[in-house]
Amino acid sequence: MSRSDLILGIESSCDETAAAVVAGGFEVRSSVVHSQADEHARYGGVVPEIAGRSHLREVHRVVEQALDEAGVLPSELAGVAVTTRPGLIGSLLVGVSVAKSIAFRWSLPLIPVHHIHAHVWAATMELGPKTSPFPAVALVVSGGHTNLYRSLAPDQLEPIAGTLDDAAGEAFDKVAWMLGLGYPGGPSVAALAEEGDPSAFRFPRYRPKPTPGNAAPRPLGFSFSGLKTAVLYHIRGQDALAPTPPPDEIRDRADVAASFQEAVVDALVSQTIEAAHREGVERVLVAGGVACNLRLRSKLTDAAEAAGLIATFPSPAFCTDNAVMIAGLGHPLLGAGKLADLSLDAAPR
Ligand code: KG4
Ligand code: ZN
Repeated sequence: MSRSDLILGIESSCDETAAAVVAGGFEVRSSVVHSQADEHARYGGVVPEIAGRSHLREVHRVVEQALDEAGVLPSELAGVAVTTRPGLIGSLLVGVSVAKSIAFRWSLPLIPVHHIHAHVWAATMELGPKTSPFPAVALVVSGGHTNLYRSLAPDQLEPIAGTLDDAAGEAFDKVAWMLGLGYPGGPSVAALAEEGDPSAFRFPRYRPKPTPGNAAPRPLGFSFSGLKTAVLYHIRGQDALAPTPPPDEIRDRADVAASFQEAVVDALVSQTIEAAHREGVERVLVAGGVACNLRLRSKLTDAAEAAGLIATFPSPAFCTDNAVMIAGLGHPLLGAGKLADLSLDAAPR
């Protein structure tokens, strides 16, 4: 790999401060992620002011560690890629400022990266440089997103459908809170679900309604607020204002976790397979923090296979926020000359 293939990636859009060095878009040389989960845990979600301050505190150490672990000097880099959108503005600005100062100091190309494109690139990385996944349907499921896209190129996603309310990861986080589990909720709900029966309770699976009098196919989409409320009523009884019982008094806690997870997974699987059929593609790319979920990975893999499709997931370490996906996507963007100058700004959306 020539030295001109090494890209430093910086990610700070939410509550992970991350830096990585990736060669040629696919070869991971280092990956450092500092998670702020502990700092936000007692609030049950990310507090923007705390996130921004924590990024400021950690970012230089994280970037230095990523360069050290890769054994790379800044002067040997081909470029610096950084998440510019979407995300928390105060958090994004920390990564963007650091990337700009490195690019200026070392006269390096500055590569702006869209966080969602990068999540999808993490799935593409699994295929290696010789297999193009395009066109594909991409399912992006994280704490902030639950969307289906037509994926046409590394930086080209066209929206097909999304969620009407909560993101799937957000639903996991809220149900974790109800069950007295830690933040982030996805991993803890999934762990408890291992001990439960996914068919114990039949929680609702939202399906968009067909438009009356319209012959067009039923629209695609997601909604998790009804499911969340169903879980809440199940735990508290019919009085939603009643206090949540202490975790050890919640009846069938593991069954609730497993049945909730099953409802989320079923909705994600059915809409994704349907979208792939309608788009006439052969591949589904799955990305974002919820793509770590083992039940989703196995049910979507099986459903795709049964439908003659291939589902590709990032390796678990690169599902949640990381900088490998930023540095990786930086490579094709640099090749295409999609660069920014030092007036680069961050954008929350
Ligand atoms: O992609 P990500 O790190 O950050 C965003 O861009 O939002 O995703 C974080 C989300 C959280 O809501 C977390 O609860 C969820 O991904 N998550 C999971 C699992 N691991 C993380 N959800 C379900 N099962 C998991 N194993
Ligand atoms: Zn993300």
